[in-house]
Amino acid sequence: MAKKGWAIPESQATPEKVFLNRRKFIQAAGVSTIGVAGLLTGCKPEQPALASPPTRPTPIQIPKTPTSSLYPFKRNETFTLDRPLTDERVAATFNNFYEFDSRNKNQVWRLIDKFTIRPWTVEVTGLVHKPQTFDIDLLIRTMPLEERLYRHRCVETWAMAVPWTGFPLKALLNRAGPKSSAKFVRFVSFFKPDQAPEQKNNTYYPWPYYEGLSLAEAMNDLTLLATGIYGHELLKQHGAPIRLVVPWKYGFKSIKSIVQIELTDQQPGTLWHDLVPHEYGFTANVNPEVPHPRWSQSHEWMIPDRKDRRPTLPYNGYGEYVADLYA
Ligand code: MTE
Repeated sequence: MAKKGWAIPESQATPEKVFLNRRKFIQAAGVSTIGVAGLLTGCKPEQPALASPPTRPTPIQIPKTPTSSLYPFKRNETFTLDRPLTDERVAATFNNFYEFDSRNKNQVWRLIDKFTIRPWTVEVTGLVHKPQTFDIDLLIRTMPLEERLYRHRCVETWAMAVPWTGFPLKALLNRAGPKSSAKFVRFVSFFKPDQAPEQKNNTYYPWPYYEGLSLAEAMNDLTLLATGIYGHELLKQHGAPIRLVVPWKYGFKSIKSIVQIELTDQQPGTLWHDLVPHEYGFTANVNPEVPHPRWSQSHEWMIPDRKDRRPTLPYNGYGEYVADLYA
């Protein structure tokens, strides 16, 4: 039987102290992770044979897709941080992605190889004038992509600071034209039980993962659809090829690997609220004053260092953008 709710011991988090600045190397070499292997095997035959370097699985496997070469995008300097960015490798090895592993955040990156992210489409449907299905690469080529530095706060009290690349959700919703009757937005993630082990083996969760926002929240300037992170394509463990980022809400609202966006006139269900309604609300704004029934929300800690404890900021520090939504 699966553990219910957020019952995963945080002690399972493994601090990653060594930062292997692999991305810089890869960028300098102008190749992807797959390309590194190609580069090494490109030695001329007359050169003395080199011992093959030990191959070690790496958590930073940048997907190679038709739009990879477009990254990085320009940073929007409006969004600044009050803390250092989280090391990319730390963020890539500490993930909540229950479709792959619902118990161990440190293992998700090892389980995503089989997950295919092309072809991929996102359907925008429901109460819109122009329901449409977008091919992910066409979307990336035609939306106003930019980089933003955001804080990211999980309901479990850990936090990180991340450079996302994406575009405002409202830009996509406007392409579909919300009808005046639309009041909410429902998001649905993928269902591929042959690729995501927990979708096959763990029936406690009502797969696929689903989430929701009010239309006003969805149209807020801060609400992003992210397709990239750390200046390159989104890694699979962060929700490639496209995920939601709602930085003033607890992280479970930021649904990964989206396939459908539906505008509705009724408040939609959300996976966590439907499973454990007394612990996870629909709104789920970051709030130091409202404890989780099983723990305080007054403080957070920055991964990977449990000692880097900071007071939780109301709305995760984004009150100036969103407080009026709840006035
Ligand atoms: N989306 C899907 N499809 N499946 C998930 O398990 N976990 C959520 C959210 N989106 C989740 C998801 C939770 S609880 C958090 S905290 C964030 O993703 C974690 O995002 P990260 O791994 O990129 O930090």
